[in-house]
Amino acid sequence: MTLDLGVLISGRGSNLQAILDAIADGRLDATVRLVVSNKPGVLGLARAEAAGVPTKVLSHKDYPDRASFDAAMVAALAPAGVQWIVLAGFMRIVTNVLLDAFPSRVINIHPSLLPSFPGVSAQAQALARGVGISGCTVHLVDSGTDTGPILGQAAVPVLAGDTEETLSERILVREHQLLVHVLSAISTGNLDLPMALGVESLS
Ligand code: GRF
Repeated sequence: MTLDLGVLISGRGSNLQAILDAIADGRLDATVRLVVSNKPGVLGLARAEAAGVPTKVLSHKDYPDRASFDAAMVAALAPAGVQWIVLAGFMRIVTNVLLDAFPSRVINIHPSLLPSFPGVSAQAQALARGVGISGCTVHLVDSGTDTGPILGQAAVPVLAGDTEETLSERILVREHQLLVHVLSAISTGNLDLPMALGVESLS
């Protein structure tokens, strides 16, 4: 089944790029129907445009509350033929307005091994807590913050001397792999929940 994706971003868009690259080289049977950013001028929008993907900027600041912002996103995403939503570095909490429009079809990528370290600055939270292993999680979105059913996880070691930046970079490599892996499994009907990509080699 080809996945008709709507990808929501707020910035750099490297996870969006991973999806676009996987589609381009045949690893993922999907079409990105629309990219929505809540911020203008971000790198992710340029990445979408370079791939010929339609984009739309909807600033949350133009709406009185989260629900009306989400209603505007649904009004853009649904007519574009979007069936699945991917939150790829989208830094807004979504409401039931979006979740009800795409039931059990909103996916998030988060840079920690949930349920540890939900919310913002997950990598800094992991360093502050002193964990030896961290990673990333792809999960279905529910009305909580990073609480929905886990679809897949990948782990990386936390190394001596790691900074928030170095740990984030190590996790990001796995984010790109995991997100494509889970989306591909959904498209082929092979999603055996939950799936793990395993722990990155410690050597
Ligand atoms: C990623 O670390 C993602 O897990 C988090 O925000 C970051 C977005 O990166 N939610 P990018 O915009 O996909 O490059």
